[in-house]
Amino acid sequence: MSALNNSIPSFPNHVTIGVDMVATIFRYVSILAAAFVGLYATFLGLLTTPSFQAHVVYLHKIQMTWFKDLDVPETFGFLRNQVTPFYLETSDAEKLHAWHILPVELYRKHELALLQEPVGLVSDITSRLAFKLLREDPEARLILHMHGAGGTVGSGYRVPNYRALSAGQPGKIHVLTFDYRGFGRSSGNPTENGVLLDAFTVVDWAINTAGIPPSRILIFAQSMGTAVSIAIQNQFAQQNPPVVFAGAVLVAPFVDAVTLVSTYSVAGTIPILSPLTRFPTLFKSLQSFVRDKWSSKDRIAQYVRANEANGEKYHLTIIHAEDDYDVPWSHTPELFWYAVNATSSTGIGLDELGEKRSESSIDLGAAGSVMEWRTENGVIREEILKTGLHDLIMGYPVITMAVMRIFQAVDPSFTC
Ligand SMILES: *[C@@H]1O[C@H](CO)[C@@H](O)[C@H](O)[C@H]1NC(C)=O
Repeated sequence: MSALNNSIPSFPNHVTIGVDMVATIFRYVSILAAAFVGLYATFLGLLTTPSFQAHVVYLHKIQMTWFKDLDVPETFGFLRNQVTPFYLETSDAEKLHAWHILPVELYRKHELALLQEPVGLVSDITSRLAFKLLREDPEARLILHMHGAGGTVGSGYRVPNYRALSAGQPGKIHVLTFDYRGFGRSSGNPTENGVLLDAFTVVDWAINTAGIPPSRILIFAQSMGTAVSIAIQNQFAQQNPPVVFAGAVLVAPFVDAVTLVSTYSVAGTIPILSPLTRFPTLFKSLQSFVRDKWSSKDRIAQYVRANEANGEKYHLTIIHAEDDYDVPWSHTPELFWYAVNATSSTGIGLDELGEKRSESSIDLGAAGSVMEWRTENGVIREEILKTGLHDLIMGYPVITMAVMRIFQAVDPSFTC
C-alpha cells in the first residue's frame, strides 16, 4: 500500500475539488442543455399546430399600442379629425378596423370644417368631409397601406411612414391603412386566405365605395404586408378584364414564408429554425407543416407574366436596408430576380442579370444602390439602402420619392 502510495503521487486536495466542481458544473450544464433541447422540441412541436404557428407568424396579439385608443388617432400624433377611424366588413363577416388619413396640406385647407365634425369612430364614413375630399377630387391619389406582422395601424414607426407616403404631394395623397383580421380592433384570426380576403375588401372599398380608379391607387407594403400586397395585386391582374394599380412600393419583402423562417432570427441574434438546417430531414418535415406559405416569389412572377401578356403597365419598387436584422436584405435581390425573370418568355438567368447589374446598377455611395429593369410595359426597381433597419426605413425620404416616381410615371402632370 505504502509502495503504491509512493509510486502514484496523490493529487493535492484543491485539484480534486476542482475536478469535482467541473463535474458538477458539467452535470448542471447537461441538465440545462437537456431542458433547453426539451423546450425547443416542445416549441417545434407547438409550431406544427396551426394556431400557435399563426401567433408566431403574424404576432397579431403583440399590439404595442395597448395603452392607447385606436379610435382616438390624435394620441398617435395626428391633428384633430385628420384621421377617420371606421370599420369595413368582409364577405365572411369579419370587421376590419381602418383609418383614412388626410394629407396635411389638404387638412390645412379644410381645417375649420374638419374641426367642427365629431371625433372618434365613424359608423358611416361616406357622410364625412374627409371622405368627400377623397371621392370628389378627380386628382386625389390613394395609397392602400398593408402593414407588417405585429402591432396595429398606430404602431410607432408606421405613423412617420404615413407622413412620408403623402409628403411629395400633401394636398392630394390620402392613405388608407387597416388592421388585418385578428390584429388591433379587427375581429377574427389571421390565416393566409383570410388576410387576402381582408386585402380584397380594402381594394374593393377603394374602387367601388371611394370611387378611385386603379390608376390613382398605389399599394404600399412592408414585411409581411408585402406578401399580402403581391398576392392581391396578382389576384386583380389575373381578373378578366385585368385590374392593375398605378404601382406598388414594397419594403423589406421576403421570397416565401419557409425561406423566411429558415433565415429569421429574433432581434437579428437568436435563430429560430436555422439550427435545424443541419438536420435536413427534420427541417423538411417541419417545413411541410408551415400552413401559410406566402409564396411571393411565385406570385410576383405570375403578376409580371400576366401584365406582360396583357400589355398592362406596371410599376414595382422593392426597397431593403442592408442592416435589416429581421428580414435579411438578400431576400430582395432574389425576389427582384423572380420578377425580372418573368419579363421574358425564355427567362433571364442569374448570370445574365448579374451582367446587367454590373452595367446598369447605380452606386449611390452611403445611400446604397439602385437597379432598374424596364420592359415596354413595366418598371421593376430595386433599391438597396446601406442603413434603415427593418422599420425605420419606412419614414425615410426614399419612400416619398418612390411614391412620387410611380404616380408621375403614370401621370406626368402629377406635381406640386
Ligand atoms: C424563369 O423563367 C423561365 C421562363 O418562363 C421559367 O421556365 C423558369 O422556371 C423561371 N425561373 C425561376 C427561378 O423562376
